[in-house]
Amino acid sequence: MTLSNKKQNLAHEVVEDSNPTNNIDFQTIISRRLNRRSILKGGTGLTAAAFFGALPLVGRTEDDNGSSIVNNDSNAAIPATGELKRPESLKFTAVPHSTSDEMSVAAGYKAEMILPLGTPLISGIDEWKDNREQSAESFERRMGDNHDGMWFFGKKGRAYDAKASENGLLVMNHEYVNSAELSPFGYDVTEDKNAAPIFQNCRRASDVRREVNCHGVAVVEMKRRTDGMGYEMVRNSKYNRRITSSTTAQLTGPVAGSDLVKTKFDPTGFQTRGINNNCGAGLSPWGTYLTTEENFLGVFARGQDASQLSAAENYGRDRYGATEDHASWGYLWHTPAATDAKIADEFSRWDMTAVGATAADDYRNGFNTFGYITEIDPFDQKSMPQKRTALGRFAHENCAFAPVEQGKPVVFYMGDDSRGEYIYKFVSNAMWSNSDIGGGLKAGDKYMNKGTLYVAIFNEDGSGKWKPLIHGQNGLDASNSVLPFSGQDEVLVFARAAADVVGATKMDRPEWVSVSPLTGEVYVTLTNNKYRGVRDDQPVSAPNPRSYDADGKASGNDNGHIIRWAETDGDHAATSFEWDIYLFAAPSDLSAENLSELNDSNDLSSPDGLYFDPRGVLWIQTDDGAYTDTTNCMLLAALPGDVSDGASTVTSARQQTRVGMSASNDNIKRFFVGPEGCEVTGITMTPDFKTLFINIQHPGNTWGAVAGGSTPRSATVMITKEDGDVILAESFVPA
Ligand code: FEO
Ligand code: CA
Ligand code: CA
Ligand code: CA
Repeated sequence: MTLSNKKQNLAHEVVEDSNPTNNIDFQTIISRRLNRRSILKGGTGLTAAAFFGALPLVGRTEDDNGSSIVNNDSNAAIPATGELKRPESLKFTAVPHSTSDEMSVAAGYKAEMILPLGTPLISGIDEWKDNREQSAESFERRMGDNHDGMWFFGKKGRAYDAKASENGLLVMNHEYVNSAELSPFGYDVTEDKNAAPIFQNCRRASDVRREVNCHGVAVVEMKRRTDGMGYEMVRNSKYNRRITSSTTAQLTGPVAGSDLVKTKFDPTGFQTRGINNNCGAGLSPWGTYLTTEENFLGVFARGQDASQLSAAENYGRDRYGATEDHASWGYLWHTPAATDAKIADEFSRWDMTAVGATAADDYRNGFNTFGYITEIDPFDQKSMPQKRTALGRFAHENCAFAPVEQGKPVVFYMGDDSRGEYIYKFVSNAMWSNSDIGGGLKAGDKYMNKGTLYVAIFNEDGSGKWKPLIHGQNGLDASNSVLPFSGQDEVLVFARAAADVVGATKMDRPEWVSVSPLTGEVYVTLTNNKYRGVRDDQPVSAPNPRSYDADGKASGNDNGHIIRWAETDGDHAATSFEWDIYLFAAPSDLSAENLSELNDSNDLSSPDGLYFDPRGVLWIQTDDGAYTDTTNCMLLAALPGDVSDGASTVTSARQQTRVGMSASNDNIKRFFVGPEGCEVTGITMTPDFKTLFINIQHPGNTWGAVAGGSTPRSATVMITKEDGDVILAESFVPA
């Protein structure tokens, strides 16, 4: 790996582990009993047709077993040909392991690359060139880098229509940048460029500007092709736009106006510039896009050493990974000369150093204005992104809502992707009304600005608890010796620290969350954790039971797992739940740790992206470094059961845990393998189930390059069935 590659990867792989607590220890002493039936079991049959309020409008019935199935409804806009029912088995032929430079998809399907990095969203600007000469500014009108979470919003006329498939807005995240492959100069730094502060490595102003503009979100209007197969971009659509790490965003909820977010840009603390490291994505029940801010740590510099800050200030920064050497690593966006700035404080805004008299004179608080679930209305091009601070500040992976029910709170589930971090949920104060569908950011104000943020505790016995993070309760007050909490703003800005106090369970890097439309159960990928069982503060526990043995020594959880839970009585606002581990990822030849009995057709490592389609098919994507000698990252389709469907408990690393039904070729199968070097991420389906969009991040070799070019590019992949039918249609039998 070259130095430049190292730099850029460092910036992305900010899987910091800044959780100093011993919370898991607390958990392990609670109970070692495994008494699965002692716990309340969540209800299975959802009554909520309203779940589909913002999704294809289909009816639901209960079958004889009381489990809910989706059926066709005379009102559904989707062809009533039986495709809405979840397939009973996976009939396609599994895609074999592959280390090829090319992608492969199941027989009978077609996978096409679209919308690679640099694609112009309007006419009048050049196509991407392999010499990367296009200007930094032009990326305000081009696809950005490292496509990630996305959603297809059906569109009818000028409005959102959850049932429309002919035309839609494809909205997606651009998570980070591959610096070395973006600039015509490669990753270029100069030594000791200016006077105070003297940076070891100074970035070029135009490179930083290009990188800032390659982050964020793209909104792209898509129209079905005339032959009915797949989609093409509507270039020049008035909806096409980019939101970048330079776009003004609104802070809403309890943190808006707080002293903790006052900056020179907005001394009142209601606005900030930019959204950053937008990772997973979600839909709101009312039809807006929810993007997330994950590894924003990598674009900020912590200039001051510990001696210049109070203990609480140090703790607040440390807990979010901004450690003392933090001025000299990451993207170094703060380093170009101030004289090269084209907008006010273009570079200094990424520096946390207190250089002015007060917070209103510098960017010491800039860091606190990132790390939020951010709502975007793709149908209102003039609208500003809304950072929903009530949902807490951490390394947000994605945001999944629970089935909504008229007159009940709206609930969102979220993971904090760092080693040993936590799983959260937010329960709105406002009660759901179907009349808010299509209500845009006003509906967001109603449901996302006031409510309760909870953090999850997974007990050893398979039960779990949600602990509220409310100022003044459970020790979240000014008497806290580590970080005195002066108000709810502080609890939310330092949500990790608040979660520490209430004894949250340290997890193996929570990535995507998805809620089953059939059972209402919640699934979270725990991608891996190299410190599990290795460091004393992260011992194995029932919910995170694996630490592989390498030469007789614990070496952490390399391959990850997927945990799931059922809220008590099926009520998503409940404060207790029952959990088990749905799936242990592992190479199938790793017999001792292949606890879900995977085989060649369905083995995987490091699950990350996760998506239940509205039929209840679970799609699992991987971002792995442990199995890539054997196979590139992949997409699998799965048909899960429910919590407690496993026959027995299993033991791993001397730790007992609860595992679900074993894997088989009937319930999980590899559907797609990406090109060498990539991560497979971001997933959405059109309402007619005929097109599946996924994203390919940081491919290796020359995948995505222009003809004859050598620069690989991240891009979207559009998957359709060759016969134009519904993806995973029951009728399909491979030749
Ligand atoms: Fe952006 Fe945790 O993946
Ligand atoms: Ca991820
Ligand atoms: Ca990942
Ligand atoms: Ca990624």
